[in-house]
Amino acid sequence: MEQVQLCGDDFDHVNLLTSESMMAGQFDQFIYCLTRFTGAREVVELGVWKGQTAAFLAKAMKHNGGMCYGVDVGEYQTEAMAHIERLQLSRWFTYIRGDSAEVGRTWKRGRVNFVFVDAGHDYDHVRADVEAWWPHLRVGGYMAIHDIVSRDGAGRVASEITTGKAPFDTWQCLVLPLYWEHGALVVTKLGESHRE
Ligand SMILES: C[S@@+](CC[C@H](N)C(=O)[O-])C[C@H]1O[C@@H](n2cnc3c(N)ncnc32)[C@H](O)[C@@H]1O
Repeated sequence: MEQVQLCGDDFDHVNLLTSESMMAGQFDQFIYCLTRFTGAREVVELGVWKGQTAAFLAKAMKHNGGMCYGVDVGEYQTEAMAHIERLQLSRWFTYIRGDSAEVGRTWKRGRVNFVFVDAGHDYDHVRADVEAWWPHLRVGGYMAIHDIVSRDGAGRVASEITTGKAPFDTWQCLVLPLYWEHGALVVTKLGESHRE
């Protein structure tokens, strides 16, 4: 996990969004493409660990002229920042030390285009993260919940969303369950015009 391969220009083409990254089962590349090619400029990662996915998001923000905020309780902050600095991406990454749901509840930096939920994986944590961060998501933005296959808590929140027991009105979202790798649920936030 020490080294992440961020390819050069060959990596930056849209085909990766729908085909190559999914077939290769590389979720990092998938969310890189999702944020890069939807023009996202404010993205949040909940759970940074050693900075693997954060580096992909920061790279997308370098292209888009945006900022990736990474929220973590901080155990691996030094490793994460060293990794991002080694890749010369620190200008597009801000580390926020704290509890992911609490940071969401007190967030004052405005609306965001993408939230990657990958911090505490038990049910209460994932549900609290979704509840705290969903209001900060722009209409047209995306939330991805990781490990819905490999972790029971994340899986339970994902099934609540897909069966209409979401912590938000279901008219507000379109869901895309991804069952490869550890599984993920990608939710798009819709606007008022989608209300029946
Ligand atoms: C699965 S790892 C994140 C992996 C990272 N997203 C990646 O793909 O490279 C989970 C991280 O969440 C952090 N974490 C766990 N509970 C948290 C909480 N309540 N608030 C903030 N971070 C938390 C842990 O410290 C750990 O670094």
